[in-house]
Amino acid sequence: MNVRGAPALGCVAAYGLVLSSQEKKFSNSKSLLAYIYASGQTLFSTRPTAVNLHWALERMKSMIKVIHLKEKTERGRLKEIREVLEKEANKIYEEDLKSNLQMADLGSKLLPFQGGTVLTHCNTGSLATAGWGTALGVIRTAYRKGKIKKVLVDETRPYLQGARLTMWELHQDKIPCELITDSMAAHLMKTEKIDAVLVGADRIASNGDVANKIGTYNLAILCHYHKIPFYVVAPTSTVDMNILSGAQIPIEERSHKEVTHIKTYAIAPLNSVARHPAFDVTPVVLISAIVTEKGVVQPPSSHAIKELFNPKKI
Ligand code: MRU
Repeated sequence: MNVRGAPALGCVAAYGLVLSSQEKKFSNSKSLLAYIYASGQTLFSTRPTAVNLHWALERMKSMIKVIHLKEKTERGRLKEIREVLEKEANKIYEEDLKSNLQMADLGSKLLPFQGGTVLTHCNTGSLATAGWGTALGVIRTAYRKGKIKKVLVDETRPYLQGARLTMWELHQDKIPCELITDSMAAHLMKTEKIDAVLVGADRIASNGDVANKIGTYNLAILCHYHKIPFYVVAPTSTVDMNILSGAQIPIEERSHKEVTHIKTYAIAPLNSVARHPAFDVTPVVLISAIVTEKGVVQPPSSHAIKELFNPKKI
């Protein structure tokens, strides 16, 4: 969890392969490649839900495959593999940064209000991406445009990404914000005006179902009941076109100690049995729009998501 947040996981996995290619001396390209692939497996096994990790590793591997190694000396091959990987990792990072800004622009235009209050969950800002953020990137840009006057931040039990990271990021930007426990959202939606809920995503299935931090699904249901727009902001690297629906998304089960303890302090009787699915899946029908760097899908559907990947339509 030193690195977390779907887009950041993709960028760091790519640089992880670069570092693994440089950390030892190899006498031939075959042993270098075997080492890189083994490192890729280790990186891949760290987090199962965020598809960006898998996406970035596959993209890096595909770059190696197109190098015509037979035409080079061993020394030349070693050098080329390392150079190709570093170049591709830089590209992944730069593209994510650019996507952040494109989503912030598109997403902020989508918000139909001025001086509104929005609610967000988990952390989707600079600490979760290459730079500006996904949902928090939209919030930062919309605040600058005067569209948002206040952000309600779910603490995001149990790992507290909202309390620890999003509150910190909003303070850095001097954006007015209030921390709430996840269970306060329904009451505030009923008694105060919340204009929109914005969240990120760890994996979007080809039909538009969205896996995101545990508690996101609750928010989507609450938004549906209270007629509040529920927006998902994520780059197309988070879309998994290989799966038909959210039912196929693997949900990471994390340590139960993260539920029974706050850091090392026990908040439940010793030996309490706990559960810790770290993500949930929000069905597409509850999502008002998905904002990507290639366009806004509103309302989301299999067809509209497929169109994002059709260059003619972009
Ligand atoms: O377990 P984490 O902290 O990696 O989970 C992060 C989230 O669920 C984010 O909301 C998601 O990755 C979107 S990040 C821009």
